[in-house]
Amino acid sequence: MARPRIAWLPGDGIGGEVLQATRLVLDESGFEANYIPGDIGWEFWKKEGTPLPNRTIELLRRTDCALLGAVTSKPTVDAMRELSDGFRAKGARYSSAVLRIRRMFDLYTCKRPCRAYPGNPGNLREGINITIFRENTEGLYTGAEWDKIPQELYNIRGMERVPRQAAITIRAITRKASLRIAKAAFSHAADLPRRGGAPNEAAGKDAKKRRVTAVHKANVMRATDGVFLSAARDVAKEYPNVEYEEMLVDACAMQLVRDPLRFDMIVTTNMFGDILSDLGAQLVGGMGFAPSANVGDGYAMFEPSHGSAPDIAGKGIANPVAMILSAVMMLEWLGKKDTAEKIERAVAEVILEGMVRTPDMGGNMGTMAMATAIAAKLKQPSPSSP
Ligand code: NAI
Ligand code: MG
Repeated sequence: MARPRIAWLPGDGIGGEVLQATRLVLDESGFEANYIPGDIGWEFWKKEGTPLPNRTIELLRRTDCALLGAVTSKPTVDAMRELSDGFRAKGARYSSAVLRIRRMFDLYTCKRPCRAYPGNPGNLREGINITIFRENTEGLYTGAEWDKIPQELYNIRGMERVPRQAAITIRAITRKASLRIAKAAFSHAADLPRRGGAPNEAAGKDAKKRRVTAVHKANVMRATDGVFLSAARDVAKEYPNVEYEEMLVDACAMQLVRDPLRFDMIVTTNMFGDILSDLGAQLVGGMGFAPSANVGDGYAMFEPSHGSAPDIAGKGIANPVAMILSAVMMLEWLGKKDTAEKIERAVAEVILEGMVRTPDMGGNMGTMAMATAIAAKLKQPSPSSP
């Protein structure tokens, strides 16, 4: 295969720091690619009136996938205040670069693993291994919003229940998007060995079926989550070897903390997935351990679940593991399974040894020290090789 072309998007704050650290690990792993840098984020909003310049969209179009550090995104009042005068006069309107990319390239699956690496002092419990599948293109994040309700909407039945002067956001859920996110979760579950059994004893008598939990609020949002649930149920029927259950989102938040080991795969709508994945991250050490993949049929973007972390930006202390594990997900997607496994094993070894810990792990080492330790593991022969 020709060298993959990868859009290299540092973004804001710690984004560039964790991406630089990840490059060290990728290079040491022997993975070869053409990395093509692109502009994205808050600086470009302030200077150019958009956080996602057209040249960056063009770059995405001519690459195989993207690696994104993180971007800063602020509420509209702050965005307008920080915008340069010329663009304010032209009526520039802020919209999130990440959300635009997800929609523009139809990256409908947001896959967010929450895995407790043994020995991580931040693990709530050892053994947690949950993958959240978050619908990534619709729900409450379509951007269809009004600060004041358009007058014509008051003619619609049911609107009498909505107070005048309200701001509104539309929650759009389609059967099509619900089906494809449910399929992503179930097909992932079906591909994995059963739980509790050694991988080569997949059918062992003690091994349990994989489980997908569909998370919703259909008792209140009957129309939208009704569509979501009915799609999830239909997909579940196609996978008799995968256990299916449903859970209300508030109960799920509680259960994730109370009994995280009961979860395997979670599939849910956009905002619930956003919130639950931060909760999931904290079960396994925090945002510094939370990678994510935004995957569509023809393109994918890999980024940590965390943001630009302005509180620690510029200090060189961000934990690069979430970004490195996002690159591992990229390697899997590119079909470089061995390299992906090698890097993940190196990450796991460094965490287990506990010699190098960033401040979020209770240590005092920096971003590059962590990356260097992981890269050094790649130089050593792996324990399984002869
Ligand atoms: P955040 O994820 O940037 O930070 C939350 C907390 O986690 C902070 O205390 C931060 O120091 C810590 N943290 C995050 N990543 C860490 C790492 N790798 N190592 C150690 N500690 C880490 O979320 P916050 O503060 O709510 O948002 C900051 C900015 O990032 C906002 O402008 C927000 O809109 C943006 N954001 C961007 C995302 C993206 O690029 N996809 C996702 C989430 C937020
Ligand atoms: Mg989030």
